[in-house]
Parts: sequence; structure tokens; C-alpha cells
Amino acid sequence: MKRVVFNQKGGVGKTSITCNLAAISAARGLRTLVVDLDVQGNTTHYLVGEIDADAFPAEAQGAAGLFKQTVGSRKMHQNPDSFVWETPWENLFLLPSSPVLTQLERELESRYKIYKLRDALQKLDAEYDRVYIDTPPNFNFYSKSALIAADTVLVPFDCDSFARQSLYSLMDNIAELQEDHNPDLAVEGIVINQFNSQARLPGELVAELEAEGYPVCATYLSASVKMRESHHEHRPLVDLAPSHKLTQQFLALYDELESGRA
Ligand SMILES: Nc1ncnc2c1ncn2[C@@H]1O[C@H](COP(=O)(O)OP(=O)(O)OP(=O)(O)O)[C@@H](O)[C@H]1O
Ligand SMILES: [Mg+2]
Repeated sequence: MKRVVFNQKGGVGKTSITCNLAAISAARGLRTLVVDLDVQGNTTHYLVGEIDADAFPAEAQGAAGLFKQTVGSRKMHQNPDSFVWETPWENLFLLPSSPVLTQLERELESRYKIYKLRDALQKLDAEYDRVYIDTPPNFNFYSKSALIAADTVLVPFDCDSFARQSLYSLMDNIAELQEDHNPDLAVEGIVINQFNSQARLPGELVAELEAEGYPVCATYLSASVKMRESHHEHRPLVDLAPSHKLTQQFLALYDELESGRA
């Protein structure tokens, strides 16, 4: 089961949601792989902290290494799992990002390597029970590769009016990708993030989305400074603060998704 978390709008909670749902999955005993396809590397940083660039040559590591071996005549045929890192958490594994992804993008695109991630992750089907893919805030080669490789997409929505506007083009992009490349991709749910029940606008926006038939997840995630703190500590919030309200919401969201109710 592979989930991609995607919204081309920046800062809506893609990384926070990817890492925390994956951490819950791992804590429940499922072998869980997180794939970081955002060159910003926020997921990589969140889960494993600062990377020693000397110890890990950027072009040989993680997602960049995996993609790089698909181009050129001197093909390496390393198992995709050899690019995967362990994390400090049991059952939680990471295919890290690296700055080299930017340089590789044009070459991968021009050589039409858009199915390579799907093929690589299929080879790992027996290794991992769940795969969570974090994407950049762009509809680019990497997010398209992820949407092609995944079974379902989760769309974080941060309750501002710009988010509402961008949701239309986002859904158009997803529909086009489904038609052209991955008809089996399911929109699993819109995840309401940083929901403020005291304010009027967020409630209205969510009600409008539901009225228009968007599959809004029943569990909303509220805003908490603890989220930022957990990024700073390089520990998923659900691990750092197990009894926090936002952790409880993540657990409810996880159960909602896993039970197929979303
Ligand atoms: N529920 C929340 N409560 C408080 N802060 C949050 C919450 N969710 C995310 N944030 C904060 O908002 C910022 C953006 O979140 P995050 O990095 O998860 O978004 P993103 O969509 O991955 O961003 P980008 O598009 O840059 O990759 C971070 O500083 C994060 O700590
Ligand atoms: Mg991010």
C-alpha cells in the first residue's frame, strides 16, 4: 500500500502529515518506508537530522542515487533497497532526498524516466507493508513520479482562501495524471490541517468542499506549536508527545484511513 501526500501549494503540511502517519504505521509494527522526493529535504531532516555530506556523497544516496542509476549507459543495477536508510525508529525506513535531485530533474524528464520510481517501489513490495511519499510543492517530475507510483493520494488543505483556489487546479492535475498514467490512483482524502474551530472561515471553507463532493477526511488536524518543536527535535510529534491533542488527531486520522472510511 503506497500513499503519496501531495499539494502543489507550499507549507500546507505535506511533510508533517507524511512523517507522522508513517511513524504511527511503524509503531503499529508495519514495516514502513518514507520516500522524500522534495529537494528541500524537510522529511529527511525531520527523521534523521543533519546529514554528514562527506560520509554520504549526494549523488550516490537515497532517491537521487536510485534515479541516477536509471540514466546513462553505465547502468548500475543496485537493488532499490540499497538506497534506503534506517531511522532511529523501529520499522521506519527512509529513502532520503538530496540536493542532487534538482540537477537530475531535467535529464530524467528528457529521458522519460517517469515510471522508474513506480518500478523501483514495486520491487520493494515484499519488503515494506506501507510506503509514504512526500512531494515537493510543485507538479514536477518528482511529484508526477510519485503519483504514478502510488495507490492513493492524500491532499493536505490548510484552510485559507488561496488553498481553495489552488485545489481546483490540483484536482485537474490529478485527474489528468490518472487518465494518462495511473487510472488506479485513488484520491483517498483531503486532510484538513491547522483547523481553527474558533474562526468562521475554516469551517465555511470545509463545508463548501464537502458540498462540492470533495472527499474530506472526517478527522481534522488542529494547529499547535508543538508541531514546529517536533521538527526542531527531529522526532515525529506522535513520538515526542504521545498524549498531545494533535497526536490523538493523527492517530484518529491514521485509523480512519486504514479502515478505509476516508
Ligand atoms: N498542524 C500544525 N500545527 C502547527 N504547525 C504546523 C502544522 N502542520 C504543519 N505545521 C508547520 O507548518 C510548516 C509547514 O509544514 P510542512 O513542512 O509539513 O508543510 P509542507 O506542505 O511539507 O511544506 P512544503 O510545501 O514547503 O514542503 C512547518 O513549520 C510545520 O511545523
Ligand atoms: Mg514539505
